[in-house]
Amino acid sequence: PTRITLALLKPDLSANNLKVDKVFAHIQKNEFNILAHKKLLWSKADAEAFYGEHRGKFFFERLCGYMTSGHFHALILEKPNAITDWRALIGPTHPPRARINAPDTLRSLYGMTDTRNSFHGSDADETAKSEIRFFFPEFDIAQWEANQ
Ligand code: CMP
Repeated sequence: PTRITLALLKPDLSANNLKVDKVFAHIQKNEFNILAHKKLLWSKADAEAFYGEHRGKFFFERLCGYMTSGHFHALILEKPNAITDWRALIGPTHPPRARINAPDTLRSLYGMTDTRNSFHGSDADETAKSEIRFFFPEFDIAQWEANQ
């Protein structure tokens, strides 16, 4: 499995620098290496392109509105099981459920609703690679893997 994943700290979280600092400390404490980091602001077209697979779902407009509501952070995280470890650290999609079932996770601590859930993590090797290419086209995944 690949050792890299794509993480997002979404606009609600990114609007609060104190929370952002705490999340970065949490990421480092959990031994992820941050290989790349960008702060971005999306247009509606950017959001619709990234979340194209959700077009037509009842929450699509809400999701794109949320993701264009302010700056957010995109990170490439590296660790032996980066994809599953990062998803375990952020917790379930729905924050109120996370507060019951997974109280130490980031969505439990910071998330608000099932749309405004503050974090994203790639769900599999191929999606991690395509999401990294989407946000970091200049990051050469094959080259990075060859150097490991
Ligand atoms: P993420 O994992 O980044 O990718 C899809 C996003 O859609 C998800 O986080 C949530 O922000 C949003 N989402 C997923 N399911 C729902 C839902 N049932 N209701 C509202 N928003 C959702």
